[in-house]
Amino acid sequence: MIDLSTNYLGLKLRNPIIVASSGLSNSIEKIKKLEENGAAAIVLKSLFEEQIHAESAHNISKDVTYGSEVNDYISGYIKDNSLGNYLKQIKDAKKAVDIPIIASINCIDNNQWTEWAKKIEEAGADALEINISVLPSDHNRSAADAEKIIFDVIESVRASVKLPLAIKISSYSASLANLVKTISWTRNVDGIVLFNRFYNPDIDIENMKIVSSHVFSTPADNINTLRWVSILSNIIDENVDIVATTGIHDGQTVIKQLLAGATAVQVASVIYQKGPESILAMQRVIEDWMERHNYKSISQFKGKLAFDKDKNTIAFERIQFMKHFGGIE
Ligand SMILES: Cc1cc2nc3c(=O)[nH]c(=O)nc-3n(C[C@H](O)[C@H](O)[C@H](O)COP(=O)(O)O)c2cc1C
Repeated sequence: MIDLSTNYLGLKLRNPIIVASSGLSNSIEKIKKLEENGAAAIVLKSLFEEQIHAESAHNISKDVTYGSEVNDYISGYIKDNSLGNYLKQIKDAKKAVDIPIIASINCIDNNQWTEWAKKIEEAGADALEINISVLPSDHNRSAADAEKIIFDVIESVRASVKLPLAIKISSYSASLANLVKTISWTRNVDGIVLFNRFYNPDIDIENMKIVSSHVFSTPADNINTLRWVSILSNIIDENVDIVATTGIHDGQTVIKQLLAGATAVQVASVIYQKGPESILAMQRVIEDWMERHNYKSISQFKGKLAFDKDKNTIAFERIQFMKHFGGIE
């Protein structure tokens, strides 16, 4: 009997496939359908502080007849209302399904992180994912200052809640391995999600406009995550889990990520494109592969091909296309 279960953030998951934070879980019907189709856990769409600020700014600018007191009231109301809706979503989801429900927040103001985290814990979420991807586009901010934001946030959230915590970061860091290792050593988080996929701009050359680039990932996008899961899974604190995301569209890629040392994966694009049934299809591929390779549980092969400084340094650290390795002149 094949056992696909795994442990993530101290939560027992029935298999390693988690639905990534997105609009895929924006209704109870959708959440139920994801559970029926084998999702092991669901990360809810992030609560974006930036969006709430924008919403209140929009409403305030519509009505300039009142003074700042009224504006404060409107912006406070919108904030409370958005948070209130989010907390209701957590409570409703917890009632509707048995799988873990992981909340997600994306804040820009340091005070909001702890306040929101506490309320999310009270609402009954099983864990909290903090999306703290910072685009390093501010040329006045040093790498150390950018990293300090991450450390400050996880320290303050950890101090305010007992919930299992995961942090979702981007791969933009001058010293990614050191950053991830140090985050794990703080023991302020239980899991690290690699990597957040950014919204990307593109240029429409006919209409001379900045437009949105592809929203969904492609399987080729997974290679970067695979390299880093491999490099990082053996160097972080053993109590911290790595979850792989971006470009995971099939069961074979889930197996690769587990071999590289991931505890679980998060998927969004493939479900948008092929429906919730794609989760069951991925599970079947994993089961079939485990059967052919005589594995009964994920722990028997997890991390088997992770970066090992004595064995396979070249495979994961090589970055130049030399003729010998690229195979193409
Ligand atoms: C339509 C859409 C909405 C998303 N919304 C969020 C979000 O609110 N918060 C977040 O942390 N990630 C969000 N993501 C990123 C996903 O959680 C995931 O990390 C990313 O899409 C990579 O996985 P994939 O390649 O399977 O799509 C979103 C992705 C998509 C496609």
